[in-house]
Amino acid sequence: MTVKDFITTEDFTREELMEIIHLSLKIKKCIQTGYYPPLLKNKSLGMIFQQSSTRTRVSFETAMTQLGGHAQYLAPGQIQLGGHETIEDTSKVLGRLVDLLMARVDRHESVYDLAKHAEIPVINGMSDYNHPTQELGDLCTMIEHLPAGKKLEDCKVVFVGDATQVCFSLGLITTKMGMDFVHFGPAGYQLSEDRQERIRKTCADSGGSLKVTDNETEALKDADFVYTDVWYGLYDAELSEEERLKIFYPKYQVTNKMIKKAAPHCKFMHCLPASRGEEVTDEVMDASYSICFEEAGNRLTSIRGILVYFDQQAELKKKNQEIDQLIARTDLELFLGKSL
Ligand code: CP
Repeated sequence: MTVKDFITTEDFTREELMEIIHLSLKIKKCIQTGYYPPLLKNKSLGMIFQQSSTRTRVSFETAMTQLGGHAQYLAPGQIQLGGHETIEDTSKVLGRLVDLLMARVDRHESVYDLAKHAEIPVINGMSDYNHPTQELGDLCTMIEHLPAGKKLEDCKVVFVGDATQVCFSLGLITTKMGMDFVHFGPAGYQLSEDRQERIRKTCADSGGSLKVTDNETEALKDADFVYTDVWYGLYDAELSEEERLKIFYPKYQVTNKMIKKAAPHCKFMHCLPASRGEEVTDEVMDASYSICFEEAGNRLTSIRGILVYFDQQAELKKKNQEIDQLIARTDLELFLGKSL
C-alpha cells in the first residue's frame, strides 16, 4: 500500500526516496533555467508550527508559491490546536480545507495523530524524534558534492557532537543509501541503544554501517562529510551554556584542525541554525569546504520534490477510486442489462 504521509524515511525504500530526490533535482534544474512548473497549481498547504523555524517555514512557503500553489502559516496561538480543540478534530477540519498539511511538532506522536485523522498527506517538518525533510535536502547536497569517482554508497559521513534528532535522521538516511555513518560524541550524549537499533536495521537492508565512538582519530579517518548540530542535550531538559561547554567543549567543537583529520576533499555540513563558537568555529562555517549554506538552499529543493510527490500520490489514489467506481458501475449495468 502506498504510504500517504511523510513522517519518517523508515517507511520508504531506498528506491522510493531516490525517486523523490531525483524529482527534487529535476524541478531545481527547471527553476534554474527560469521555468517554474505549475505542479501545485491551485493547491493549498497548511503549515502548523509548534516551534519557531526559519529554513523549514520559508522553504515550504516558497515551494508552494513557486509551483503555483499557496501556503498558510498556522502559528502557535493562532489556531485552535493547543486550546480546547483536539488534534483529531483539527486534522479532520484541515483535511477539508487544504490539500496538504505540514507540521513541526513538540511531540512525534502529534504528527502521527494528525496523519491518522486527516485524509490528506501530512509531512513531518521536525519532531523530537526526527527531521525527514532535512534528510532529503542533505542527500541532495551530498549528491551535488560527491567526491570525484565516488558513489554515495562509498562515502563516509561523520556526525560530531550531541545526538540530536538531526543526528539520528542523518544516520537513518545515510545508512539507507548504503553509506558508512559515524556518530562521534561523548558518553551520555551518544545515540541511544533504541536509535542505534533502528539505524542498524536500515544497515542490514542496504549494506551501510554504523559506528558510535568517542575516539576522534578513528571517527574522522577518511571522512567525506563532517556534520554537526547545536549542543542542547535531551529534548526535555535543555542544557545551560555552562553545562554544554563542560560536556562538549573543546573535544567536540568542529575546528579546522579536526577537519584536517578527515579526507582531503572533506566537506562540512550543518543543518543550521548554528551557535558559532560552540559546536563549530567561524573559520569552519566560512571555509571554502563548508557547504552549509548550499545545504540550507537545498531545504527548498527537497521540499518542492516532497510536496509534488505526495500530492501526486494523493491524486493517484483519487483517480484509482474513480476507476474502481467505474468498473463496479459497469459490472452492475451489465448484470442488470441497462444503463444507470
Ligand atoms: N534546519 C532547520 O530545520 O532549520 P529551521 O529550524 O530554521 O527550520
